Amino acid sequence: MCGIVGYIGHDNATPILLNGLKRLEYRGYDSAGLAIRQKDGSIKATRRVGKVANLAAALTTEPEDSGLGISHTRWATHGGVTEPNTHPHASWNKKIFLVHNGVIENYQQLKTSLLAKGVTFENETDSEVLSNLIAYNLEQQSEEISVKSVNKAIRTSLASVEGTYGLAILCSDLPDSLFGARKGSPLILGVGKNEMMLASDASAIRARTREVVYLDDNQIVTLNHDNFNITTFEETEVVPEISTISWKDEDANLGDFEHYMLKEIHDQPSALENAFRGRLDMEEGISKFGGLNLSRQAIRHIDRITIVACGTAWHAGLVGEYLIEKYARIPVEVEYASEFRYRNAPMDKNTLVIVISQSGETIDTLEAQREAQRKGYHVIGIINNVGSTIARENDGGIYQHSGPEIGVASTKAFTSQLLILSMLSIYFGRTRDLSYADGCKMVDAIKELPNLIKQTLELSDSIKAIAKKFAHYHDFLFLGRLEMFPIALEGALKLKEISYIHAEGYPSAEMKHGPIALISEDCPSIVIVPDDETLKKNLSSVQEVKARKGKVIIITDSHDIPSSLADELIIVPKAHNCVRPILMTIPLQLISYYIAVELGKDVDKPRNLAKSVTVE
Ligand code: AGP
Repeated sequence: MCGIVGYIGHDNATPILLNGLKRLEYRGYDSAGLAIRQKDGSIKATRRVGKVANLAAALTTEPEDSGLGISHTRWATHGGVTEPNTHPHASWNKKIFLVHNGVIENYQQLKTSLLAKGVTFENETDSEVLSNLIAYNLEQQSEEISVKSVNKAIRTSLASVEGTYGLAILCSDLPDSLFGARKGSPLILGVGKNEMMLASDASAIRARTREVVYLDDNQIVTLNHDNFNITTFEETEVVPEISTISWKDEDANLGDFEHYMLKEIHDQPSALENAFRGRLDMEEGISKFGGLNLSRQAIRHIDRITIVACGTAWHAGLVGEYLIEKYARIPVEVEYASEFRYRNAPMDKNTLVIVISQSGETIDTLEAQREAQRKGYHVIGIINNVGSTIARENDGGIYQHSGPEIGVASTKAFTSQLLILSMLSIYFGRTRDLSYADGCKMVDAIKELPNLIKQTLELSDSIKAIAKKFAHYHDFLFLGRLEMFPIALEGALKLKEISYIHAEGYPSAEMKHGPIALISEDCPSIVIVPDDETLKKNLSSVQEVKARKGKVIIITDSHDIPSSLADELIIVPKAHNCVRPILMTIPLQLISYYIAVELGKDVDKPRNLAKSVTVE
């Protein structure tokens, strides 16, 4: 986690860095800091606990800014949330200032060795080891300080470091140079007109330039205001590939919405349309994807699919399991990425691995992908963030095209993952044994989806009123069967994440095997009741809750459920089963959102969380 931004150019660095940090706050908001080269040649660091706004407030006077600086927004790993632990970290001799995203696993050993050499430390972070190590190695060189000698000191230092890092580094003796290095944590170079930037992701750069270079692992970059040079750790020159960022600025703007989460919930009709645009063949009743790199023959030979993801994306994978097994008749396993990497699960020779990640930077998912590729499996990704590490390293994939998702709680990225998994089940199904007629029905249902989502969003006011009534409860159960079970899990996660209310998701019928003990008038249940063959059984679960004085909110697409059965009834439009989980998700997103707002929580930046989890 953590976000880093560096700038070198002719404008004041401070406002550019602050703007970049605000864009990266989704990566962490425990504390923030920057180090700016002043016109008198000194480097001034300012650090504050809390959000970027606190840092901005501390920078009220016009800075003596010379157009060179680095900055950081922190999600604490090593060391508490304190000002000394806030980046940038300066070396003991104030020669090297750096910001770091990642974890240095052998920092204790490096620290002990530097302490023995007389180097002093000021804080508890693993990152301070890096500034001191680079400064120490620089001091050991007998040559005068130059771009070359700093480069060498960085290289020598990183050779002894175990762990992950995206780094932006300044040397106090070099007024026109900025350095970056990457291993395991993302780092992007922005190439502007007479200015260059470094950042953890493109959103921090977009306001200045759309031309970017995605650095790869084990690369070091040296920048001045009009040039840059990339080499590998082994000093091989890298020929850079410059890409253009395609997101529109308005995609990342709040508009008239109070929170990004609400905006992103309302983005869903267009986000999902973007996910299926150009990917449906109405004539053939099939979906199509450009970048899977899988022939039809290869698809026919798939024996099993393993889906790997974390958090909300893992919930999407669970829905994918139901859809792919049902429509493509391929057995599917869904694994937490963090477990998959270490448990060495036996897999069939013809297993296809699918990784799902909104950010494309989640380290657990990235490492799981690398592990699967190491073992020779074909890995495809369902990824939102274009150019992200997972997207660049996999063997093929599908971009979600949801646009930037800034609210920490995932909403539109989740429903777009569900849609892509549904389209994948059609594609694989039609390549194997899904009939033309069934394929056509599913493709039609997908085309109708944006309208149905709009109709569902029209329920917002009534859902807000329900949320107000239920905001004071401390425990919730979310219940659903089959593909609605992962939707129940996702509903519970959303509520936990942004309102800090305890919530658990269960398969409806499992409730009576244990969780029923929780039910009382103080623990309401939110039950998803699709109008299908499970309806009667689901209503039995509702009765069991009611018999124990539990309050019930039913989310359904049936018009035949007596309103007396539920304390609240939310009726969404009817849709084909392949898209129904999407429509059932939307009321759950709105309930969580309005409960959190009612409780006065910081919806877009919930406590302890970060949008992109880039530490294991
Ligand atoms: C979503 O609301 C969560 N904040 C979180 O579970 C997230 O889905 C998870 O960390 C995976 O992120 P990714 O999709 O970017 O890989």
